[in-house]
Amino acid sequence: ADKSIQVKLVLLGEAAVGKSSVVLRFVSNEFQANKEPTIGAAFLTQKCRLEDRVLRYEIWDTAGQERFHSLAPMYYRNAQAAVVVYDVTKAASLDKAKSWVKELQRQANPHIVIALAGNKVDLVNNAAASSSSTTEETSEDEPDDATATPAELAQAASGDGLRAVARDEAQAYATEAGLLFFETSAKTGEGIVELFTEIAKKIPIE
Ligand code: GTP
Ligand code: MG
Repeated sequence: ADKSIQVKLVLLGEAAVGKSSVVLRFVSNEFQANKEPTIGAAFLTQKCRLEDRVLRYEIWDTAGQERFHSLAPMYYRNAQAAVVVYDVTKAASLDKAKSWVKELQRQANPHIVIALAGNKVDLVNNAAASSSSTTEETSEDEPDDATATPAELAQAASGDGLRAVARDEAQAYATEAGLLFFETSAKTGEGIVELFTEIAKKIPIE
């Protein structure tokens, strides 16, 4: 009864969005402010306990730098789950995430469970930020209404000076593409256990 189910999971996303940090938080409950870029990929494992079963995640944390892109298929080929990470303070990182999702939906296992994670939410979430020690820069850009994008208008309305991707925009995309969606912070731990637990619930029992 204690035999756990192995689940191969891959993390994908633009460089520096926090893939390795999300994994470090999940596996060791730690955070490193100056984490070095991943070279190639890193392998880690962590158990995930559900009410009725225990899964053992075998995690491939890939390198986001473009020169490593061609290695990715080796890691997602047999994956049962994928976490595609973007940075909520960097709009281009959501575009990159969308292109990873497309690649997975074309090339990976058709039954793969995919979750989209908008990381670094501590930088834009005042409630979470105020519980930590540092003072965030509060300089607020003044968006030019004539050229403001929906994301910029959402940012202005929410008062989140650093947010570049509105939560609703990412949630809507995730729903349309059939993905789980979470905003996370590897720094505070917000959303991290939920992310891996909700994926685990979607893995079919063999
Ligand atoms: P590659 O391995 O190059 O693809 O990068 P990565 O996606 O693994 O990013 P990594 O985890 O190395 O994090 C990049 C930088 O962002 C590091 O300095 C982290 O400390 C920081 N970082 C990661 N996650 C968070 C977060 O949730 N909040 C904040 N404030 N910083 C974070
Ligand atoms: Mg990394």
